[in-house]
Amino acid sequence: MLERTVLFLSMASDSNSSIESVLQEQRVFPPSSDISKRGQIGSLETYQRMFNDAKKDPEKFWREAALKELSWFEPFKKVLDWSNPPFARWFDGGKTNLSFNCLDRHLDSDKADKYALIWEGEPGDVRRFTYRELYHEVCRTANALKALGVGKGDLVALYMPMIPEAAIAMLACARIGAPHSVVFGGFSSEALRDRLVDGEAKAVITADGGYRKDKAVPLKPAVDAALADNSCPSVQSVLVVQRTKEKIHMEDGRDSWWHELVPTQKRECQAEPMDSEARLFVLYTSGSTGKPKGVVHTTAGYNLWAHLTFQWIFDIREDDVYWCTADVGWITGHSYIVYGPLSNGATTVMYEGAPRPSKPGAFWELIQKHGITIFYTAPTAIRAFMKSGRSVPDKYDMTSLRLLGTVGEPINPEAWIWYREVIGGGRCPIVDTWWQTETGGVMISPLPGATPTKPGSATLPLPGIEADVVDEKGHSVAPDEGGYLVIRRPWPGMMRTVHGNKQRFRESYWEYLRPEDGSLIYFAGDGARRDVDGYFWVMGRVDDVINVSGHRLGTMEIESALVSHNAVSEAAVVGRQDDLKGEGIVAFVTLESGREVTESLLKELREHVGEEIGPIARPDEIRCSDALPKTRSGKIMRRILRALASGEEISGDTSTLEDRSVLEKLRS
Ligand code: PRX
Repeated sequence: MLERTVLFLSMASDSNSSIESVLQEQRVFPPSSDISKRGQIGSLETYQRMFNDAKKDPEKFWREAALKELSWFEPFKKVLDWSNPPFARWFDGGKTNLSFNCLDRHLDSDKADKYALIWEGEPGDVRRFTYRELYHEVCRTANALKALGVGKGDLVALYMPMIPEAAIAMLACARIGAPHSVVFGGFSSEALRDRLVDGEAKAVITADGGYRKDKAVPLKPAVDAALADNSCPSVQSVLVVQRTKEKIHMEDGRDSWWHELVPTQKRECQAEPMDSEARLFVLYTSGSTGKPKGVVHTTAGYNLWAHLTFQWIFDIREDDVYWCTADVGWITGHSYIVYGPLSNGATTVMYEGAPRPSKPGAFWELIQKHGITIFYTAPTAIRAFMKSGRSVPDKYDMTSLRLLGTVGEPINPEAWIWYREVIGGGRCPIVDTWWQTETGGVMISPLPGATPTKPGSATLPLPGIEADVVDEKGHSVAPDEGGYLVIRRPWPGMMRTVHGNKQRFRESYWEYLRPEDGSLIYFAGDGARRDVDGYFWVMGRVDDVINVSGHRLGTMEIESALVSHNAVSEAAVVGRQDDLKGEGIVAFVTLESGREVTESLLKELREHVGEEIGPIARPDEIRCSDALPKTRSGKIMRRILRALASGEEISGDTSTLEDRSVLEKLRS
């Protein structure tokens, strides 16, 4: 606790630098007049009315939204059951199906022949699916899963590249009521195995490989490694998409090819009526302690929140072509590539690749080629584009764009302005959306036709969301004072629990801050301040989570990976500010006696972390010393390591340090 408080205070002082840079950029950008005129939430007054309605009578607000926006097989009886907090039940008694809401209900309208999904592969291959075509693909896949013995309630893990089959498989799982657990394709076989075991997955859907940076990258061998030696006994079958056509091993009796099994299935499959609170998916994310936790989302509440937030924030219209650059392995891909757009009947674009030296203009070319109107990406990508200058994007016609979004980490005002001017041609509003895996959908964001924007601020909470910035006792802090970013009331898209660990859910999110009145407030690790206009400025994590290029990593996971190497006796990992990635990873390690620090060992350690977790977790720097700074009670003083990692003076009290000579050694 002390450590976290110190952390928080040091972060609050860090925030002064961000406040200064914000003060240099004091312009307020009015909402787009085009959107104000034609959009559904066209003025700040409309937003405020919605916000106040939701606050005054939440039951009525959510009931009306759920009845209007979702299709129900059976109507729900109760809007919210909060009798056993923090375990919420939304829309109890109702039956619906997310796959039905994303597909079937669009087939009776003109949307049936509208593109639901436009996909472009890294080598330039393009596939397009109308809503009708996507529906049949999903039905066939759902039937294939049934043929493999997957039924309602069975967990299916997806370990896939960014290919249409990833979205199809997610929708197929939702269709038959089999919760999915998507594991980012960049995670290692070890990380995959942990998730398969924790979730007791019954089947895995994967591909031979995918394309990354002009190369075919294998995936299936990692599945084979994860399943080797019967280490995941629950897994009975593996369905494999052929993407790269590299030679892979197919295990008799366990593995089947997608292209052999799926096309032979019937093209109709009834969507299973699912209880509102039926588990929809598990998605693992990092926290400050222990292994990644399986965040559980359920059917109706998640569907409603992904649907509504997509509609509000992106002001979606019939002719929009919307593109989110995330990977389906993260929550952004779940909510804003697949479910939010399709539930609204929008056209969503999916891209397998990323900008790379051979194609620095890959993103802009895609915008030009497909006439993208709404573009949603991460600040880290924007900073990388900024670095290579405007000459690259300037080569492309991006006049189709009308709205830009960012997600995943705080955006510095300089990048915000560049995004607006260079990519948005000065005419597109920017929505800076704050949210988390746990929140299911966006919580704080401008509405492009209503909210004046300030570069670097996620602005105001969405209707129905009671966000606040508080001190340790849960009291609201004064304007411009730093504090913990919390949510005071349940909302439909909230995570329901940590898979298999109710206690961890309660403790990590709802009991960290303890208001004196005994109320429960949700806190998931971010610090923020609110300015005099009530605008939120998210300052970043205040716990031991590092945000590397918008990817969330627990320092403890990386430490465990390091100490699992036989040369390492102890490890401590901290984040360091990085102009491009937001944060970089610095590891301090002590070696087992007799081991020498050599370049090749350091390289080996980095690779080892890559193998244990995935390449994104490889430390940028590893420093070896014969001891780590510890308190007399043996606790590593991360505050000191953080200062050392970023080359700052060590400030604050060091009197609790057990051995002060360690500091000198670490400095040298
Ligand atoms: O620290 C916040 C940061 O990303 C964390 C959530 O990470 P994850 O669950 O992986 O979800 C990422 C996509 C929603 C948050 O706790 N974060 C996300 N969006 C923003 C942000 N920080 C500042 N501004 C944002 N817009």
